Amino acid sequence: MKILIIGGGGREHAIAYKVAQSKLTDQLYCAPGNAGMEEYAVCVDIGVMDFEGLAAFAQKEKIDLTIVGPDDPLVAGVVDVFEERNLRIFGPRKKAAIIEGSKAFSKDLMKKYNIPTAAYETFDTPEAAVSYLETSAYPVVLKADGLALGKGVLICNTYEEAKLGVKTIMQDKQFGAAGDRLVVEEFMTGREVSVLAFCDGTNVIPMTSAQDHKRAKDGDQGLNTGGMGTFSPSPFYTKEVDEFCKQYVYQATMDAMKAEGRDFTGILFFGLMLTDQGPKVLEYNARFGDPETQVVLPRMKNDIVEVFEACIDGTLKDIKLDFEDNAAVCVILASAGYPEQYEKGFVINGLESFREKEGYYAFHAGTKKTEDKIVTNGGRVLGITATGKDLKEARKNAYQATEWVTFENKYMRNDIGRAIDEA
Ligand code: AMP
Ligand code: GLY
Repeated sequence: MKILIIGGGGREHAIAYKVAQSKLTDQLYCAPGNAGMEEYAVCVDIGVMDFEGLAAFAQKEKIDLTIVGPDDPLVAGVVDVFEERNLRIFGPRKKAAIIEGSKAFSKDLMKKYNIPTAAYETFDTPEAAVSYLETSAYPVVLKADGLALGKGVLICNTYEEAKLGVKTIMQDKQFGAAGDRLVVEEFMTGREVSVLAFCDGTNVIPMTSAQDHKRAKDGDQGLNTGGMGTFSPSPFYTKEVDEFCKQYVYQATMDAMKAEGRDFTGILFFGLMLTDQGPKVLEYNARFGDPETQVVLPRMKNDIVEVFEACIDGTLKDIKLDFEDNAAVCVILASAGYPEQYEKGFVINGLESFREKEGYYAFHAGTKKTEDKIVTNGGRVLGITATGKDLKEARKNAYQATEWVTFENKYMRNDIGRAIDEA
């Protein structure tokens, strides 16, 4: 098969690595791809939001299957554009991707179908939100309704902070049109777990669990980022939690979407919080998580293209997912200053150390190829993943591998997987 992957981050590199292993893959293309993906794929310079360009390429090259990585094209309807042209594509249609595109939609869905989540209210004007916040309990969580690069969530400890938060989101429009509506949510405490699941419109099969580290600094301090590291599996995701979620969260969400005429095909990402009252949904994403994918896919035994095909054909119930009985840890190497100001263009040395080393991966995120070198080209530069027989060994291996790579202004968290010691 000829396969096209849309996207060019660490997530898409991990998908490309897995797709390249499939016995069904003859030729792999990525748009726009990155320097790391060139190892397995031909990268073509078409942007992820250039739907006409992407579809024209797929038509011309007779691509058999396209896989979409990022949220923006999914929420904007890239799947619909491909399907209108009879091009085979893996991902949710626009009307299903809204589960990530609008937090108000996803909260209303959970409420209507009794899927456990934090209590909430939705507001269309800053005045109404502020008036509600006068009497609400604190801390409180403010969420911009739309897509905001994972950054549109503010946790406010006081009424004053919350008032400022409403201004930031709804008046200053720090997250653009995503802040036209606001969700105000009850603050919850507990362990966070991410579960990615394959969906075929009717059936849902969860993959192994993972945990992200969203804050920039050690000890979960600093600003929220796109993710500074992950580990898989989560020791807190027990059999009981899994059984509860399969019944009351995963299948319940699939059934709810179907009942709304929004059958979900693709990857559904469940951001869960394990609270004292049981697991609750923090958020849904309509795609693979980043950097969760960088620890989940290296542990997957299945031929991933077969699973993608089953999702599109509606035959997922015939598939049994299988993961290695090991663990993986991913440490993000970032540019100092991320997620705020940082410099780019520094030469990256040591990537050759990963070649032919089983169980070690350097997934590229913000990199660029110049004539004969690879240079830094973003806030998050590389995802260094290693496997091991258990989480502790995987963490030791991953941190060891971070030392093989050098570039100026290299920054990472030193406590990825600290929770493992508390398990
Ligand atoms: P989200 O993008 O909705 O997952 O939110 C980003 C992060 O904010 C989550 O990973 C949590 O750490 C935190 N968060 C979101 N909603 C809540 C909540 N209701 N209570 C506590 N923390 C939350
Ligand atoms: N790791 C969280 C996300 O992909 O949004």
